[in-house]
Amino acid sequence: MSSVALTNIATLVTNSPELGEGLLGLSQGKTLVLEDGKVAAISDRTPEGVDEVIDCAGRTVIPGFVDSHTHLVFAGDRSAEFAARSRGEKYSAGGIKTTVAATRAASNSELSINAQTLLDEALSQGTTTVEIKTGYGLTLHDEIRSLDVASAFTDETTLLAAHVIPEEYVNNPDGYVDLIIKEIIPASSAKWIDVFCDAGAFSPEQTRAILLAGQAAGMLPRIHANQLSRTTAVALAIELGAASADHLSASSDADIEALAASTTVATLLPGAEFSTQHEGKLGRRFLDAHAQVAIATDCNPGSSFTTSMPFCIAAAVSLLGFTVEEAVHAATSGGAAALRRSDIGNLAIGSRADIAILKSPSYIHLAYRPGADLVETTLKAGRKVKIWQK
Ligand code: NIG
Ligand code: FE
Repeated sequence: MSSVALTNIATLVTNSPELGEGLLGLSQGKTLVLEDGKVAAISDRTPEGVDEVIDCAGRTVIPGFVDSHTHLVFAGDRSAEFAARSRGEKYSAGGIKTTVAATRAASNSELSINAQTLLDEALSQGTTTVEIKTGYGLTLHDEIRSLDVASAFTDETTLLAAHVIPEEYVNNPDGYVDLIIKEIIPASSAKWIDVFCDAGAFSPEQTRAILLAGQAAGMLPRIHANQLSRTTAVALAIELGAASADHLSASSDADIEALAASTTVATLLPGAEFSTQHEGKLGRRFLDAHAQVAIATDCNPGSSFTTSMPFCIAAAVSLLGFTVEEAVHAATSGGAAALRRSDIGNLAIGSRADIAILKSPSYIHLAYRPGADLVETTLKAGRKVKIWQK
């Protein structure tokens, strides 16, 4: 049995209201005891005989971030597209094709190295769980090898063969839907199935057919909904019991009320809002309706090229109207709910000891000090995975 004690914690975020104050379940000056990769106790003193003591004086301890929406398997660069947006161009789904060409041309090892590099960045900023989607292969071979790359890094893998209609099927989009249903889905071992249901991507009818086929094959649904245009994707997500509907920028009040009355988590993507089309305090509308809300990076080379959950927290506060507490909760507990997980995203007794130790005395610094390097140590299942020494 291995044990670790995190002592003198300036602020402990448990996300468990019975273990502390408010939404974040906060306490001060506690010791967090970890045993065999799990949270064993929250105590006022350090127990005898622990294997390792980490002094957290002046530091905040939070659950590791759960990034429930990423597109990390890709090759190529689209910085020129970002620069064009800075000159007033609009983001559209069309840019995805550039990344598809680069991804198809890349070897498996290039794709793995690219993903590993981004995951290292994420880990250094406190992310302990990532969901990873395919979606830049769009052939049977390239989707399945993208999934193989993703599976080496996480159990939270998502088949997004329905990202856009690939070039070779532009005159026969239903032919591509058939390929997904008849060949790609049967070959997929992903946990989740996702569809980009939007202008320039897949219609609600195509989305329904693909998600139903994915469900029949044992995958669980989630949807890219209302990113660029308002469709019936939210109603479809709720009808199919999707774990999450993501983006939601163009949602109606009826969509928001329906999500709030459902078990589908509303996942907002502050990095995409920052990089593409932000309008108004999007998050407040969901929070005020009492929808269950997550925030995630959406890390991808087109609409949101960030791996940083602290950046997304800061952007959620300044652009989307979250309070700091709501943003930290959405980046941890919310992300876990969007993956239908209760063992992560909180530091209740028995939860996985996935933890970020912040250099600051308060979690507020995550939004108050945007761009600063705030994560001192990340632990996964009670083990230090990286200590960044500058
Ligand atoms: O989630 N919305 C669709 N997919 C990505 C963007 C992909 C890209 O532009 O490469 C997203 O924002
Ligand atoms: Fe996305």
